[in-house]
Amino acid sequence: MEKIAIITSGGDAPGMNACLRAITRYALYNNFEVYGVERGYAGLLSNNINKMTSRSVSDIIQRGGTILKTARCVEFKELESQKIAAQNLRALGINNVIVIGGDGSFKGAKALSDNFGVNVVGIPATIDNDLAYTDYTLGFDTAVNTVISAINNIKDTMGSHDRVSLVEVMGNNCGDIAVYAAAAGGAEYCLIPEKSYKIEDVANSLMENHKKGKISNIIVLAEGGGDRQQIHDRIKELTGISVKITTLGHIQRGGAPSMADRVLAARFAKHAVDTIIAKKTNRVVGIKENKIFDQDISDALAVPRKVDEELYQLAHILSL
Ligand code: ADP
Ligand code: F6P
Repeated sequence: MEKIAIITSGGDAPGMNACLRAITRYALYNNFEVYGVERGYAGLLSNNINKMTSRSVSDIIQRGGTILKTARCVEFKELESQKIAAQNLRALGINNVIVIGGDGSFKGAKALSDNFGVNVVGIPATIDNDLAYTDYTLGFDTAVNTVISAINNIKDTMGSHDRVSLVEVMGNNCGDIAVYAAAAGGAEYCLIPEKSYKIEDVANSLMENHKKGKISNIIVLAEGGGDRQQIHDRIKELTGISVKITTLGHIQRGGAPSMADRVLAARFAKHAVDTIIAKKTNRVVGIKENKIFDQDISDALAVPRKVDEELYQLAHILSL
């Protein structure tokens, strides 16, 4: 009987559990033996690889995080560690590994495949949406919905006091959470690492808005898009306005996955198992124009990232 091991790795993302459930049950349905690896690549090194049944994934579709747990395992970058991981897999007769994670996790999967011949399939899961080969990663939709819900609340109180608010969101070096949240949350400004800006221009624009009677404003700042305190201080110096700062932090990484993420999890999972059934090797799955596809892992990792310029501009125009 062919075997598949599943790993969740890197930053957890809502929808990882739904994906784990879907892979397990779809693979069992197709007569694979299924294993779950605990704590990402760390579990491959410590041999924490356990057999999964349909019941192992009961009642998890609605839960954020990952029941397999995850880890940032620095040692896995070393060849010697990858060798131990491959030996542990081989000892159990496992030749297929589905890795649910972000670009770092995909690099780990590629190393395992390039250096030790393990067949890997990557499923993109990170709230950051920073894998350019796919339109969406698992967890992004839920995270943006969480941010929007926070912006709704912030708008209520900021509007009542005529205040300006800066909401800092996650995303590592990617501005996607900020851009989508600004567009969907109706923010006036969106500061992201991919677009240069002058804080003086933001300050001037805030003053112009003030003159026009638009006093309450929301600035969405991506975590890689500038230093929140420096932005606060400079705006205060130039305008006298004391911007209220909210850093959303890990709130936006947890929570029940949205419908979009649960359905995406199921579609990614099916396609990942199907690539193994079709004897394809070293693939990642993705979604483009609502079609699920698979691609070579090295090609996928080489796709350059770019921000959705049109949405970024539209968010700004609609806030005027
Ligand atoms: P994400 O997958 O969310 O991008 P990380 O960048 O933390 O998260 O990567 C997750 C894990 O993948 C790392 O802790 C490490 O175990 C593994 N990894 C990352 N980069 C490499 C690499 N170049 N070679 C081998 N393993 C890697
Ligand atoms: O990659 C997901 C993410 O939440 C990023 O947005 C953020 O930069 C990072 O992980 C935070 O990592 P940690 O939880 O390890 O502090």
